[in-house]
Amino acid sequence: MSTYTLDTATSRAHPTPQPTRRLTVPAIGARKTDGQTAEPIVALTAYTTRTAQLLDAHCDILLVGDSLAQVIYGLPSTIPVTLEMMANHASAVVRGSHHALVVVDMPFGSYEASPQAAFESAAMLLKASGAAAVKLEGGAAMAPTVQFLNERGIPVMGHVGLTPQAINVLGGYGARGKSEAEARKITEDAVALCDAGAFAIVAEGVVESIAIALTQQVACPVIGIGASAKCDGQVLVTEDMLGLFERTPRFVKRYGDMAAAISEAAGRYAEEVRARSFPGADQLYRPEA
Ligand code: KIV
Repeated sequence: MSTYTLDTATSRAHPTPQPTRRLTVPAIGARKTDGQTAEPIVALTAYTTRTAQLLDAHCDILLVGDSLAQVIYGLPSTIPVTLEMMANHASAVVRGSHHALVVVDMPFGSYEASPQAAFESAAMLLKASGAAAVKLEGGAAMAPTVQFLNERGIPVMGHVGLTPQAINVLGGYGARGKSEAEARKITEDAVALCDAGAFAIVAEGVVESIAIALTQQVACPVIGIGASAKCDGQVLVTEDMLGLFERTPRFVKRYGDMAAAISEAAGRYAEEVRARSFPGADQLYRPEA
């Protein structure tokens, strides 16, 4: 951990000092040795500088997820997300953190066509943001792309199981791996990605027995979301776990009630503005005495 003290007390201060020693991709990979992860990997999503500042000390990985589509932009799915959106939010997260590894999602349409297309998109994301790695969705079909990027200096995190960018093929956001064939395919996908050089794999929305099996079978860390506590680590969408939304997937545990806190604060502010009691004496500037 760095010895830097961040001035996070004000939104007007420079948000982040020069980075010190962040967790690296090899350091994350090394958490799993001989199939065991003594210290589970802690990951959360982040899209903004202030959120990154607050999460950084607690997390090993900050994932700039394309879930920002729904969480930040109110879009119906992750399909419309662009490279520019991801680069801008990833830059904000890098500026707000100095400890966690920052991983940025490659948006739909930016990497599937060919390894070369993926390289151009991933290079743009890393150059523009300062993030250290990308994540992409898809199984064995993406293995050549993972290898291509990795061999050219771009670490890749895989993502199997429920892959939201494939919503139009999957037809819904339900758990994956309920049939034997689907279960086998998910495990094969994870093995193929890991063999191709993925440094970690997100397993999302999968039946627990599959999550356990693939965590045992692949050499790189498996980070679960709606998977199993026996995975090598966990990730959640931060706004979900903070309780910003009334409806969340079954696998989300709420560790806060941010929706109520925001509503209550906004309500009190509105009341005081309407009563002309805000701003009060403490908030007003006075002439020099
Ligand atoms: O986009 C995202 O936030 C993700 C996580 C849910 C793993 O991919």
